[in-house]
Amino acid sequence: MNHDKGRNGGGEIVRTSRQILHDENVMIVDHFLPAGDHLRLWEFFQKQQFRFVNSDKWIKAFRVQDGHPLRGPTFRLGEPPPRDGGMQLIYYPTETIIDSFIDSLSSAELDIPGFLKCVETFKVMSTLYAYPTGTALSWHKDAVYKGAFIYYVHPYWGATWGGELLVASPDDNERATDQTQAVSTPAFDAREESAFLMDTGKGRYYMPKPNRLIVIRPGVNHMVKKVEPNAGENLRCSISGFFE
Ligand SMILES: [Fe+2]
Repeated sequence: MNHDKGRNGGGEIVRTSRQILHDENVMIVDHFLPAGDHLRLWEFFQKQQFRFVNSDKWIKAFRVQDGHPLRGPTFRLGEPPPRDGGMQLIYYPTETIIDSFIDSLSSAELDIPGFLKCVETFKVMSTLYAYPTGTALSWHKDAVYKGAFIYYVHPYWGATWGGELLVASPDDNERATDQTQAVSTPAFDAREESAFLMDTGKGRYYMPKPNRLIVIRPGVNHMVKKVEPNAGENLRCSISGFFE
């Protein structure tokens, strides 16, 4: 069932209803933006300036084996962030389509009891990322925030192109939120992390489906699989960030 292509009698693109699903670790919102806004955001995305991650300093979430994804500007709602990590920060309102994206993130629909309280304390940091073939983001958790999100901006993605989001099993995540079990991102020696993740050794995957938003609870181990050669010259284009 494809709602994205929905048009009314006048040939105009119509707003399609969101589909929200969630489990203990993630909330998935398909058809997150109206189709027209998704396209405008895709056009906007392509006009931004990007640089390779780790070109200025090593952001250790991106490991050496992850290759060099590209990072664009960061859009911010709220006062300056506690750590900016050398980001190009642009503050809301921006008078661009990014404002609609940030407005949608504050939607009451995302305010699921026991999951995320968007409306009450809404500060957000969202960064544009583009992953060419061969790039990835290894296992990590974004424990210091109230939730992390990923939105897929590209207009099409093939099922064999890679770039899936992997989320470790609930058993692991329950343990991960216990600080005595927490494992930080290893820069060189990943044996402790491997032992932790291999103990249960299971989880779920989510495809980088266009116009999909995924919200991840804090403390949940997740990663982005490498974009496969099958993707050719197509980049996995996302906006990702955090609720504070
Ligand atoms: Fe993350």
